[in-house]
Amino acid sequence: MFAHRTTYLFLAGLLASQTAALGQNPVMTRQDASPQPRSVTLREAGSARRLIIGAAASPGRLSEPQYADTLAAQFRQIEPEIHMKFGFIHPRPGSDASAYDFAPADKLVAFAQAHDMLVRGHCLVWHQRVADWVVGGVAAKTIGSEQLKAILQNHISTVAGHYAGNVWAWDVVNEAFNDDGSLRSTIWYDSPGIGLKDRGTAYIEQAFRWAHAADPKAKLFYNDYEAEVINPKSDAIYTMAKDFVARGAPIDGIGFQAHFDLAFDNPKTLDSFAANLKRFSDLGLEIHITELDVRVNAPNATNLAAQAALYGKVTTVCLQNPTCRVLQTWGFTDKYSWIPAYFKGKQGWALPFDDSYQKKPAYNAILKALEAK
Ligand code: G3I
Repeated sequence: MFAHRTTYLFLAGLLASQTAALGQNPVMTRQDASPQPRSVTLREAGSARRLIIGAAASPGRLSEPQYADTLAAQFRQIEPEIHMKFGFIHPRPGSDASAYDFAPADKLVAFAQAHDMLVRGHCLVWHQRVADWVVGGVAAKTIGSEQLKAILQNHISTVAGHYAGNVWAWDVVNEAFNDDGSLRSTIWYDSPGIGLKDRGTAYIEQAFRWAHAADPKAKLFYNDYEAEVINPKSDAIYTMAKDFVARGAPIDGIGFQAHFDLAFDNPKTLDSFAANLKRFSDLGLEIHITELDVRVNAPNATNLAAQAALYGKVTTVCLQNPTCRVLQTWGFTDKYSWIPAYFKGKQGWALPFDDSYQKKPAYNAILKALEAK
């Protein structure tokens, strides 16, 4: 109801201003006076439902007009797909400014600001894309737990500090759990770890506390994949989140990546998805869908229709959850997606725009879900 009213008011306002602009001629024909209103974008339809529609992006592509125009027109939020990861942003040893390379991510932030967009940060702690100098130092045993702790504290403080006021939400820790719910063995946890080995999620909590100290206003998220439904991994994340909330550790929400294929579209799975999100909402946490894509094995009409249906259902699940505030796709055009490379060309076509920036059925399905009562 609210969404329809807002959309109506928006369109009525748009029409009025366009009519006013043409208003110098009092004898306009009906055709003259009724220009086609431009269609509502995802970001507008999302805003009308208080949902932030985002996309992962890369700065090197902003010079491509269709890329930049589509991103700015359709999305309210940008998240750097790779350029805030440790290995990219902190490629050289040391803790002073010369060790960091902020320019590529800064370019995305500047683009976002120029187009009234938010920036979501990704990610401060991850076991992948750790800088070679850290991995090499650990292998050579020149970096032990004490040094690693200092390195990670400096990294989090410097990066979150650099973007304070410009990044509104951070994936602080990404993918720390195995599918069976155990903690993943990583350089940060136990190999050698930052000195909190065998203390469960204490190292994750430490990262959140450092991030909070660096930017007290940023919202802090734990982010993971294959944790969308109720399963051992989401149970483990839930246990951690409940504990953090109970003890006042600075966590604001959970990011659910949502890298799906068509098999996700069945009632049992979708019910479990909704129930899972709800239990986190019930803890008072915000829900962000952070990396949504729906891969298919060929871009035929049947697959694209099925893909669209799932995009629509995921959007609806988010809308029906009281604290789901972000719906973000991992990229937005099939021209640039991690899927074909990762699935060796056997899967792809996972995003709402095709490789020529044309809207796919998935785009229309998201919009329809956003505009539904
Ligand atoms: O830009 C270079 C290109 O010049 C070179 O020819 C090519 C050869 O491999 O590599 C290109 O860089 C690649 C980059 O993506 C840009 O496409 C890197 O090798 C590749 O490792 C990098 O992969 C990214 C990956 O994270 C690791 O950072 C993917 O794009 C990105 O989509 C993926 O994102 C992750 C999330 O962070 C966490 N959740 C899962 C998600 C998908 O794996």
